[in-house]
Amino acid sequence: MIEHKDIFVDVPSRIGTHSLKWSKYGSKDVIPLWVADMDFRSPPCVQSLATEICEDGIFGYGVCPSGLEEVVVSRSSELYNWTIERESLVWLPGMVCGLNVACRTFENEATQVITNTPVYPPFLSAPSTFGLQCTKIPLKLVDDRFTIDFSKLKELNTTAGDLFMLCHPHNPVGTCFSKSELLEFADYVLSNELYVCSDEIHCDLILDPDKKHFPFASLGSEVAKRTITLMAPSKTYNLPGFGCSYAIISDDNLRRRFKKSMRGIVPDPPAMGFRLAEVAYRNGEDWRSDLLSYLRRNRDYAVTEIKKMNGLVPYSPEATYLLWIDARNLKTDNPHYFFESAGVGLSNGSDFGAPGYLRLNLGCTNDLLIEAIDRMKNAVSKL
Ligand SMILES: Cc1ncc(COP(=O)(O)O)c(C=O)c1O
Repeated sequence: MIEHKDIFVDVPSRIGTHSLKWSKYGSKDVIPLWVADMDFRSPPCVQSLATEICEDGIFGYGVCPSGLEEVVVSRSSELYNWTIERESLVWLPGMVCGLNVACRTFENEATQVITNTPVYPPFLSAPSTFGLQCTKIPLKLVDDRFTIDFSKLKELNTTAGDLFMLCHPHNPVGTCFSKSELLEFADYVLSNELYVCSDEIHCDLILDPDKKHFPFASLGSEVAKRTITLMAPSKTYNLPGFGCSYAIISDDNLRRRFKKSMRGIVPDPPAMGFRLAEVAYRNGEDWRSDLLSYLRRNRDYAVTEIKKMNGLVPYSPEATYLLWIDARNLKTDNPHYFFESAGVGLSNGSDFGAPGYLRLNLGCTNDLLIEAIDRMKNAVSKL
């Protein structure tokens, strides 16, 4: 059995495994640090159960294990001091699916979907799929940290029933919103009678030990009534290929409407996804703690080194394993192409609504990260 710490060092090659992340560049010598998928093996408890299931060889339809609902509820209370009921849970085969179902739920009620930019691309594309306008309010940079621009929000004309899509913690900028920021945001939401879809997929990945995640809906019953929370074990335990996510919707009417928008279109997660999610949540806590230490080390290394490169400004993420970089002062027209040509495949800020920026995935071995940073350093020094 592989020890936890080794999992972050001895990673298997993903070349030829039909990995989205690693197949993008095929046989080209480009280190893929783009899509949010880590190179680490999932926790040993997940590997053991997956092996057991494969040895049985039965892959029929599944139902949600009651133990999974139980652990989601208990974990929510233990980690986030948030009491939720099992009845509030709605299972989904993915979070992007949840974002789209949320927009669909409001297609006849909202006049717009508001979101803070830059943001994870499906936040920008989901509204128009359902004929809704996407209103983009840029985040504000204060002391090298991105935060919500309340003065801009207050200038915005909204209609009761509009939807706000919140990314919390925020992808790509890595902000772990504080309780006071969230309370101010809750005031804004309640006074304008908005609804919120709060994507909290990165909530278990808080890197700064002095920061804490507060689920938006945990701020009070009035807030909860207007909130669809989306969560999943997929980023935390590196299970995105197993499609097991969930919405938490405490208001019966809102939950009914959300489920109606799913009807006939959205399948349940696969049986294996349900079972692996349960075991990861139950027995993956030590592994998660090791992961956070490893990611913190990668983050600190990358931020320190990128700061030394002329024309690049990295924003140290408080949460997530994603590093947002301002490359607008790099002496090249297309920073994304520039680094790809130098052998490092990053995410392009344009996809997040921010041309000239880049996103680097820190979920890889320290050795691979060092190699990628060296390539970036060499390329920048030649400009
Ligand atoms: C904020 C956010 N939401 C959703 C997703 C995607 O979730 P899924 O793969 O379950 O659709 C990601 C993936 O990176 C993400 O960062």
